[in-house]
Amino acid sequence: MTSFRDRYGGWALVAGASEGLGAAFAECLAERGMDLVLIARREALLDDLAGRLRERYGVEVRPVAMDLASPDLADALVAATADLDLGVLVYNAAFVPVGRFVAADADALERAVDVNVRAPVVMLHTLLPGLERRGRGAVILMSSLAGLQGTPRVAAYAATKAFNAILGEGLWQEVREQGVDVVACCAGAVETPGYLRSGKGRVPGMLDPETVARRTLDALGKGPRFVPGLVNRLVAVLLTRLLPRGAAIRLMAGNTGDIG
Ligand SMILES: NC(=O)c1ccc[n+]([C@@H]2O[C@H](COP(=O)([O-])OP(=O)(O)OC[C@H]3O[C@@H](n4cnc5c(N)ncnc54)[C@H](OP(=O)(O)O)[C@@H]3O)[C@@H](O)[C@H]2O)c1
Repeated sequence: MTSFRDRYGGWALVAGASEGLGAAFAECLAERGMDLVLIARREALLDDLAGRLRERYGVEVRPVAMDLASPDLADALVAATADLDLGVLVYNAAFVPVGRFVAADADALERAVDVNVRAPVVMLHTLLPGLERRGRGAVILMSSLAGLQGTPRVAAYAATKAFNAILGEGLWQEVREQGVDVVACCAGAVETPGYLRSGKGRVPGMLDPETVARRTLDALGKGPRFVPGLVNRLVAVLLTRLLPRGAAIRLMAGNTGDIG
């Protein structure tokens, strides 16, 4: 059986890797023998994680402190990775403005677009050609059940997650003949520091970050969209196929009414 490293090779980049799901992706990729570029703003967290992964798995790790919302992101990504044989790209970072859209800070809404939409577009436009040239590689885009329909109180965030799911699906078909597997992961609740900071408690179907990361890596090459967890898959069917659109939006509103 071909190993993950043999299939995709070389280095994996995780954008949004300092904690939560991104750190779990980093750990699962290191476990599969991948060397790593880890991107986030909090340098100390990245350095700690890098040290742990080098020691535990014997892989090379390059922590890169940067703001993915920065206007010169393309140049910064090239500078951080030009000497590496990149095989896997994970876009995991997100910014979530919570509350009524009309009451939100304009800066916060623009930041959500920069971090959740502009940055993955820039990252893929900059680095995906390299994966195509080498004829093998993988891309993971983090989306959410919140992106399957409009979601009140996180309306802008949910719209950015819909963007990522649809972008991933289009690329899945565009680059598969070049040997690149793409998957958009539409996760339900994941017990991450970011989730816990939102003030929401446990919900049915909630998964730990390691389970989501591991199952998403295993889903590469099996289809354009992946929903981790049986309960979440049932919820996704309910939201997208069984309920009328308005009812699906109201169901999500019941779930997001208490965050923030
Ligand atoms: N948690 C859930 O319940 C859930 C459910 C569905 C989907 N998701 C999706 O899963 C992904 C991860 O969620 P999470 O809960 O693990 O998020 P999180 O705990 O908030 O972590 C996000 C990561 O992104 C980094 N990041 C955020 N803004 C950044 C920026 N401007 N520049 C560089 N790095 C940045 C953060 O590091 P720094 O702060 O150090 O920069 C952190 O490492 C997101 O895309 C989210 O939409 C999560």
